[in-house]
Amino acid sequence: MDKILIRGGKPLKGSVQVRGAKNAALPLMAAAILADGPCTLHNVPCLHDIFSMDKLLASMGMSVEFTGRYMTLDASAMNSVTAPYELVRKMRASFFVLGPLLGKFKKARVSLPGGCAIGTRPVDIHLKGLEALGARICIDEGYVVAEGELTGADFAMDFPSVGATENIMMAACRAKGVTRLSNVAREPEIADLARFLNAMGAQISGAGTDLITIVGVDSLNGAEHVVIADRIEAGTFLIAAMATGGDVTVLNANADHLPTCLTKLREAGGEIEVHGARIRVKAPERPKAIDIITQPYPGFATDLQAQTMAMLAIADGVSVIRETVFENRFMQVAELARMGAQIDLDGNSAIVRGVPALSGAPVMASDLRASAALIIAGLAAKKGETAIARVYHIDRGYERIEERLAGLGADIERVHD
Ligand code: UD1
Repeated sequence: MDKILIRGGKPLKGSVQVRGAKNAALPLMAAAILADGPCTLHNVPCLHDIFSMDKLLASMGMSVEFTGRYMTLDASAMNSVTAPYELVRKMRASFFVLGPLLGKFKKARVSLPGGCAIGTRPVDIHLKGLEALGARICIDEGYVVAEGELTGADFAMDFPSVGATENIMMAACRAKGVTRLSNVAREPEIADLARFLNAMGAQISGAGTDLITIVGVDSLNGAEHVVIADRIEAGTFLIAAMATGGDVTVLNANADHLPTCLTKLREAGGEIEVHGARIRVKAPERPKAIDIITQPYPGFATDLQAQTMAMLAIADGVSVIRETVFENRFMQVAELARMGAQIDLDGNSAIVRGVPALSGAPVMASDLRASAALIIAGLAAKKGETAIARVYHIDRGYERIEERLAGLGADIERVHD
């Protein structure tokens, strides 16, 4: 198993390209099920989660070719509507195939994803939405079995779940009549998915707001689409720059997708400049303490919470981080404590007492964003070496992170243990 070794204390400097968004690419790949012809995606990141979705779609007979950042998907020879447990349990986003399978084939058998490191993560909203469209759903031997002709309906979500919005929106594209989804998630990845579906011939309006209207159509054709930039990756590099007293420009990013993050980094003392698709942060000598509340978009992204905590561990003052999206997303705290961070947990809040410096230590990654937090802490640590085990978590969502950070001057390497 690989490890990442970091000798910290060097300010990150220079520029780095942001890749296509994993959380946009995964539902886009699932959406290709709906098309009757081949689809092409550009700017697809080369990540383990993308390979997992590729494997799942291929297991159902879809032809998927991935070269460089370019992917073609052709659903015309699909011969199965079953997403097996062995593949779904590895990645929750596999559940996104439920909506398109049901919409197109009128039936689907998709394994329940089960819990994960950051919480129980139920799928009740996905299922209630599909039932509102007329699907008959039962749970059989760990699988969601859904069938039926879908009919447009009004459905208000209990919580603006990203995955449920995407799943129901995809299914509704093939429902008879008009579907109105309210209290939906407004994440940029949802608007990106709607753009792709509309290019396929769907009639979706309002994606990116909290009310989406979908007029069902009889068929969808193949389409070409460029995946949006990964806002979480962009935010991670900016936060890493802040934590190391650096000066970093992220290229091919979209500042409009990071409103709260940029406001908070400014509050922490960062000088932020935005020029088109470039975002530059010039870090202060030491970040100031700030308070964070994670919320659905456009609030502060839960996917940037752990990385921000690593930065605040060395900030001047006491910060409070409140996590409202997931119930168990402070897995990084115990590992950061091994590096000298002073963090107390109180329910869904973390009180972070900034220390002047962290020191390197052997630590263990527990989930994707917690791993990014450990990397940031390792880069910021003024002495010692940080050895991060279980780096497969980071490979799920960041492409060759060590090479790109090394390009910014970090002393970082991947070793085979
Ligand atoms: C997506 C992102 C993930 C991000 C999350 C929140 C992808 C592939 N993943 O995950 O990186 O952290 O959005 O921004 O896009 N919930 C329910 N019932 C449901 C669905 C969700 O109770 O049916 C709860 C979840 O347990 C969680 C909260 O709603 O507490 C948010 O989940 P959701 O927005 O659905 O996240 P995901 O789509 O799984």
